[in-house]
Amino acid sequence: MKLWGGRFKKAENKLMEDFNSSLSFDKTLYFEDIQGSIAHVKMLAKSCILTQEECSIIQNGLKSILSDIESGKLKIDGDYEDIHSFVETNLIERVGEVGKKLHTARSRNDQVAVDLRLYAKKKAYEVIDNIEMLQAAIKELAYKNDSIMPGYTHLQRAQVITFKHHILAYYNMLLRDKKRVRNAIEIMNENPLGCCALAGTTYNIDRNFTTRELGFNKPVDNFLDGVSDRDYVIELLSCFSIIMMHLSRLSEELILWSTKEFDFVQIDDEFSTGSSIMPQKKNPDAAELIRGKTGRVYGSLIALLTIMKGIPLAYNKDMQEDKEQFFNSLDTVLSCLKIMSGMLSTLKIKEKNTFKSVKQGFLNATEAADYLANKGMPFRDAHKVIGEIVLYCEQNIKAIEDLSLEELKKFSELFEEDVYSFIDYQNTLNRGIKRELK
Ligand code: ARG
Repeated sequence: MKLWGGRFKKAENKLMEDFNSSLSFDKTLYFEDIQGSIAHVKMLAKSCILTQEECSIIQNGLKSILSDIESGKLKIDGDYEDIHSFVETNLIERVGEVGKKLHTARSRNDQVAVDLRLYAKKKAYEVIDNIEMLQAAIKELAYKNDSIMPGYTHLQRAQVITFKHHILAYYNMLLRDKKRVRNAIEIMNENPLGCCALAGTTYNIDRNFTTRELGFNKPVDNFLDGVSDRDYVIELLSCFSIIMMHLSRLSEELILWSTKEFDFVQIDDEFSTGSSIMPQKKNPDAAELIRGKTGRVYGSLIALLTIMKGIPLAYNKDMQEDKEQFFNSLDTVLSCLKIMSGMLSTLKIKEKNTFKSVKQGFLNATEAADYLANKGMPFRDAHKVIGEIVLYCEQNIKAIEDLSLEELKKFSELFEEDVYSFIDYQNTLNRGIKRELK
């Protein structure tokens, strides 16, 4: 069941046949393959390369293959080299000799190029939808939880922030992710159909027609580039890698926050798992898996860059290796976005604990230094004075606001009663983050 063979004396070795076949994974492209073929055959009729009657027979044959695949009547398997051979062979079986005319003025090189671009574009929009779903979950969580919590640098308690402000950082990361995917769609939105094997065709085809039919912005400018460009796959994998990096950072925070040591959040049972030996355990597997799966997405980006780096123009079979990597990363990023949305929609924030950590972290030390600076002390000196106060507090197991005015005055005469309201956590928030951001 091959589309070639006329110039061969011997049959293909079975090992080679299996090695070469891509049907097991490029069957994912069945819809785009048929969509591309329908546009192609309509164009052939419009350009008077096929008759209208031939076109209708082929079109109907292709549509019946599509509906049989979608209803489950036709299974995509068997001894075919790829999805293109599968569809074309099935078409010939259904409509007879006229089916053999479908591949006029076309090569599998531009066929696979157009299939993959159509698929990549469709799925990129799905990724954008899923990013938006996660953004909505983040926003809801943020606005429900305006509670005070410690902000960290170097994973050491630093200054007071709100949970809302912390979690909204991820909203902004996702905003950039969305822009990156949109930009990738914009760049890839060109039609490679009609490039044929590498040099176009001497038939008088109409690439603008298939461009309109398939919803691309324009036909590609260069045939060799059109059939051998996989930049858009690499670009999407790069976008996916950045998305996964963001999801992985968020996962890491959820894992830390759900430890007894932090105890800031409770991940819902729906997104946790237990231990087969330790009855008390509730593990943050969803977050750990997202963090772990980031590895495979980075891996596919590096794989594709490596596959493409040494191949001469134009099409080479190396490029068949793009699909498994791309499909796998796509599935991974989509499921991670969904799982993260589910986890955040059900997450509980333990406000009492985040507040307790604020109290214990000297999170108003910077404000205390600002207080002295406002009273005229150079900030560098104020920094030193508050450093000494922190040391004193640590030795006496106290917070800065627990010290009496007398104790404070031992460090600087500039301290007055108003220091307590100045370094109050809530007032600090109101003067800082909350004033700046709504
Ligand atoms: N299965 C191939 C791929 O995915 C399709 C193109 C084959 N072209 C060819 N001339 N062998 O890249």
